[in-house]
Order: sequence, then structure tokens, then C-alpha cells
Amino acid sequence: MNELIEKILIEPKEIQERVKELGRKISEDYQGKEVLLVCILKGAFVFLADLIRSLDIPVRVDFIACSSYGSSTESSGVVRILKDLDYPVERKHILLIEDIVDTGLTLNYILSILKERRPLSLKVCALLDKPERRIVPVNVDYLGFKIPNEFVVGYGLDFNGHYRNLPFIAVLKKEVYSQK
Ligand code: PRP
Repeated sequence: MNELIEKILIEPKEIQERVKELGRKISEDYQGKEVLLVCILKGAFVFLADLIRSLDIPVRVDFIACSSYGSSTESSGVVRILKDLDYPVERKHILLIEDIVDTGLTLNYILSILKERRPLSLKVCALLDKPERRIVPVNVDYLGFKIPNEFVVGYGLDFNGHYRNLPFIAVLKKEVYSQK
């Protein structure tokens, strides 16, 4: 599998240290409150699994799944909900957990539908941000890393469903996804 990887962008140790820092910051900011972590499937499940273990505040977890129409590497901008939350968010502090913010369309859509449900607060925690690709502005309250405009996989992020299990963030060789 590694012959398809162009380079490692973020090593496992760096990820783990940053996730712990984010966990400490979130725990401080939400001291005395209970938070509902909303994980945006599928990519964010690995980040969520590590982040939740670095939090020392009361948390609950729920999951939402969306699909943006388009090819495997380009989003079309149209988002639809595949799986909605199991529980209402009204009067809860919501922290959205996302693996990567690219065009911002997914997050922008999810934020708009959750806002309508009147949570007590609504914030975003994303592991990666590719600011060069942004189409709609979104505010990321807790960010792991800013990355350049390259196609990345690993630590939950996929190409065609693969590579989510890599413990690092890597750039995939162009020939892997340009053949599609
Ligand atoms: C990816 C990623 C974000 C979204 C970011 O999800 O996990 O949810 O795209 O892109 P955007 O900012 O351009 O909207 P994807 O649709 O690949 O689904 P997955 O997480 O199930 O792999």
C-alpha cells in the first residue's frame, strides 16, 4: 500500500500531541458544562475516537452522515443528509467533529440545519483545514492543522473508501486518483 503514498504530511506522534492539546483546550472551555459531540461520518470517526479520550468533561456522542454529490476527489456543492442525529439538540452545547474542511460546503450545510434546531451553543472542531479550497466561509473554533491544497488520506480520510486506517496523514500519489 505504501508505494501509493507520495509523502507523509503529518506523523502519528504529531497528530496524537495535537489531539491531546485540543482535548485540553476543549475541556477548559466547556468546564462545568455537558457537551454533545456530533461526529460527521464517516471520516471523522478516527479523530473522534482519539479526541473523546482526551476530554475530561461530561460528553455524549451522536453521529450524522452527509453526502456531497460529485466525483471522489471533487465536491459538487450539493449536500444531503444520509443519516440524521438520533437525539434532539435543543438546549444542548453542540461541538461538531469534522476530519477536514475543504470547500466548507458540508460544514456550512450541517451548521445551517443544526442552528435551526436551537442548540444552546454550536461550535466546530476540525482536524484539518485546507483554506485554499474554501468556497463558503466557515468558522472553525478548534483546529488541528492547516494543510496545503493536496489530496490527503489516512487517519479516517479516504480515497474510494480506502486508506482510512493509516495512522498518519499522507498525500496520495496523483496517479492513484487521476486514473479514475
Ligand atoms: C469529506 C470530509 C468532509 C467533507 C469536506 O467527506 O470528511 O466531511 O468531505 O469537504 P467540503 O468542505 O468540500 O464539503 P466525504 O464526503 O468524503 O465523506 P466521508 O467522510 O464519508 O469520506
